[in-house]
Amino acid sequence: MMLKFLCHFCTDTFPADPMAPFCPQCREPLLVELPSAGRRIHSSGPPLERFMEFLPLSGAYESLSLGEGDSPLLPLIRLQHKFELPSVWAKDEMLNPTGSFKDRGTVVAVHRAKDSGVRKIGTVSTGNMGASTAAYGARAGMQVFVLAKEDTPREKLLSAGVHGAHLVQIRGDYGELFLKSYRVGSRHGIYFMNSTDPFRIEGYKIIGFEIYEQLRPRLPHYIFVPVSSGGHLIGLMKAFIELSRAGIIPSLPVFIGVQAQGCSPIAQAFSSGRARVSRVAAPGSVAQSINNPSPPGGNLLLHMLREHDGAVTAVTDEEILTAQRILAREEGLFCLPASATVLAGMLKIRDEGRFRPDDRVVLVITGSGFKNIPVLEHQALSLHSATPASLDALIASL
Ligand SMILES: Cc1ncc(COP(=O)(O)O)c(C=O)c1O
Ligand SMILES: [Zn+2]
Repeated sequence: MMLKFLCHFCTDTFPADPMAPFCPQCREPLLVELPSAGRRIHSSGPPLERFMEFLPLSGAYESLSLGEGDSPLLPLIRLQHKFELPSVWAKDEMLNPTGSFKDRGTVVAVHRAKDSGVRKIGTVSTGNMGASTAAYGARAGMQVFVLAKEDTPREKLLSAGVHGAHLVQIRGDYGELFLKSYRVGSRHGIYFMNSTDPFRIEGYKIIGFEIYEQLRPRLPHYIFVPVSSGGHLIGLMKAFIELSRAGIIPSLPVFIGVQAQGCSPIAQAFSSGRARVSRVAAPGSVAQSINNPSPPGGNLLLHMLREHDGAVTAVTDEEILTAQRILAREEGLFCLPASATVLAGMLKIRDEGRFRPDDRVVLVITGSGFKNIPVLEHQALSLHSATPASLDALIASL
């Protein structure tokens, strides 16, 4: 199969070279172009095998998998009743091998690395992608380089280091670092599978295919996704667009991206009707994993969302922490603040009166709360201390 990359903006195609994932004219991320007609989903096997006809791979190597995917789609019934919501489900991506949805993209990109004979891989990461790339790189016996922002929480950095990856904390501009990684990669033969890498995005499609499979024969009306670089949401949309082109589904869900207000360049461009994302100065929010001031997939995501009637919204730190608490207390789901944005976004859309009672809504819960314990200092937890003698009285008082 002769693989091609397509630029959504100038519609030119390019050879699918993982080391050159941006359009040289438009400077926008390229996407894998596969004809969708005649493709089908297989009924058994792990996700890479079931959806192989929609993926740019020649086969699935068991030796590269860590058991990612096939995550549950959990009905959130208590939440639905308590907040008078339509039917809502959580696609629980926290259960992936390194605790986030990143593994879905990493496994496909590592397959591509192996197929093209690359022995060195890398990523520019705020944390979760570093841990994922390091783990899959270790399993593939590849050398891994993780370039992290200076303010990356130490526990996230160390959890990539434990797999033997080289960790480089970079002072300075994140956007510049992103572009620089490709120049360094070409010089040293390192495939930087960054957040908008076309093969990584192909892996994110599988989350969408599984949502389709799990709700079948019904379709979701809305899918809420946290957005940083935009890669994840681009992948989910691409999945449903391809299912539609293959004649498997009649219509697309409405996709709603959610950003943290403290770093919301894509939401700002969306609400002001701009076609291009402007860099945010001094970004900051409690949702550290999605604080990307110059998202590389921003313009492409804006374009795709407008084409398919989607939207991007922004929520405050307070709304995010409340949503994190609600998911943990009402449904037993302990996720990252970045992931809790989806519930905050859904509550906002409910307040705008957009849902109909028979709508079906899916929240993609992207990463495990265990990755950021210090943030729980912001949550009012029921913490007490007692002696054996005072324990009775304490329990009676709670
Ligand atoms: C937990 C979590 N959720 C969501 C995202 C956003 O994904 P993307 O950068 O592909 O938009 C990230 C990205 O780092 C993340 O770590
Ligand atoms: Zn182009």
